Amino acid sequence: MSLLIRGGTLIDAARSLRADVLCVDGKIAALGADLDVPAGTESVDAGDLLVMPGGIDPHTHMQLPFMGTVASDDFYSGTAAGLAGGTTSIIDFVIPNPQQPLLAAFNEWRGWAEKAASDYAFHVAVTWWDESVHRDMGTLAHEHGVASFKHFMAYKNAIMADDEILVNSFRRALELGALPTVHAENGELVFQLQKELIAKGITGPEGHPLSRPPAVEAEAVNRAIRLAEVIGVPLYIVHNSARQSVEAIARARGEGQRVFGEVLAGHLLIDDSVYQDPDFTRAAAHVMSPPFRPKEHQDALWKGLQAGHLHTTATDHCCFCAPQKAAGRNDFTKIPNGCGGIEDRMSVLWHYGVNSGRLTPSEFVAVTSTNAARIFNLYPRKGALEVGADADLVLWDANATRTISAKTHHQNVDFNVFEGRVVKGLARRTISAGKLTWNDGDLRAERGAGRYLSRPLNGPYFEANSKRHALA
Ligand code: URP
Ligand code: ZN
Ligand code: ZN
Repeated sequence: MSLLIRGGTLIDAARSLRADVLCVDGKIAALGADLDVPAGTESVDAGDLLVMPGGIDPHTHMQLPFMGTVASDDFYSGTAAGLAGGTTSIIDFVIPNPQQPLLAAFNEWRGWAEKAASDYAFHVAVTWWDESVHRDMGTLAHEHGVASFKHFMAYKNAIMADDEILVNSFRRALELGALPTVHAENGELVFQLQKELIAKGITGPEGHPLSRPPAVEAEAVNRAIRLAEVIGVPLYIVHNSARQSVEAIARARGEGQRVFGEVLAGHLLIDDSVYQDPDFTRAAAHVMSPPFRPKEHQDALWKGLQAGHLHTTATDHCCFCAPQKAAGRNDFTKIPNGCGGIEDRMSVLWHYGVNSGRLTPSEFVAVTSTNAARIFNLYPRKGALEVGADADLVLWDANATRTISAKTHHQNVDFNVFEGRVVKGLARRTISAGKLTWNDGDLRAERGAGRYLSRPLNGPYFEANSKRHALA
């Protein structure tokens, strides 16, 4: 099967040039002018459009069982919505219950993900520790291509990893050449603050940010960074939402440590006033962790992205509908944590990033696709416009506008945190594994077309890291 994309302007993380792209059997087969095209090749006109690597969302939770319910977007509906917005790959999370064997959880998630419409990889969470976890991490890394492990420093009495787990798992990850990642919030502080707030009668969503102030995040970010420093392992910190986190990452990087930071589209744009909404449903729809922050943090996050202290943009796509959020009507600690965004991340980053001059188009490609591919060992299969790379492309219309709304989005959730925002810049067409899956409003996502992405270990950052430590 072949597809020719004609007349577009190619933009990758390094350059911009006018060229045609020939896709054959799901791969980029040639780039340039006057290409030799096999008979029967379908052709797509990309005149006036930008042709970029498809987006990679390195942080999603499709159909996650969490806080007594299950996230409403499953692997099919969530990845299909991603395609409508120009995202062609996700990295989701296998989250074993404490005491559940990691391999059993991995197999369970692999089964759920078989319906995915776009390609996917998995980080696997380490939520407990014993010899079997040590062994299973090795099996996952060597036999299943799991090249990153996740640690929740929050969610006490559920999936929280204490320091003992963190130290053991970071050491094992280093041994394996896999990247440890953390959700950085001090779970003990959150737990105590929640109890105090509820005891004072603060039971509504306004209690959520009060129970998780920026210092709670900063403590965990700094602790994870220092643990990684002592162990000598690179570190990736998910959903940084506070100025203090960006500063900690910048400081560590300035000291030569290899720390990577992710920021969510939501945290770049939405502030904590949403929790004061008198309408419970609207306020609860914004309950996620870390919470949305006072406005000044957004400026620090944008600057962190521009300065290269933050490397990737994600969504933490984890949708719950109003009846699910209602579980916490009388107690904010019971509101399932999570918001959507996979369909809108690319538009939001283009509109508020590129159109405002904060990002160049190539920087946009870096932070929405290429950097995630590099950090998580998917490059150059993903995140690159190169012969041999997967033909995952977005044909971007930088001049068209759309109004974001839950009424029109494809995400399986009744709320959109970007509701009503008019964004200029959208995915006109999305090509996944060489197939047109989104064609100007026509979603042609195919259930089960997505493939599991097995990743190599010991990415370039590991090699550099071990050289540095050998010299120290
Ligand atoms: O509130 C959030 N972020 N829910 C999903 C789980 C997590 O912490 O990433
Ligand atoms: Zn998290
Ligand atoms: Zn998450």
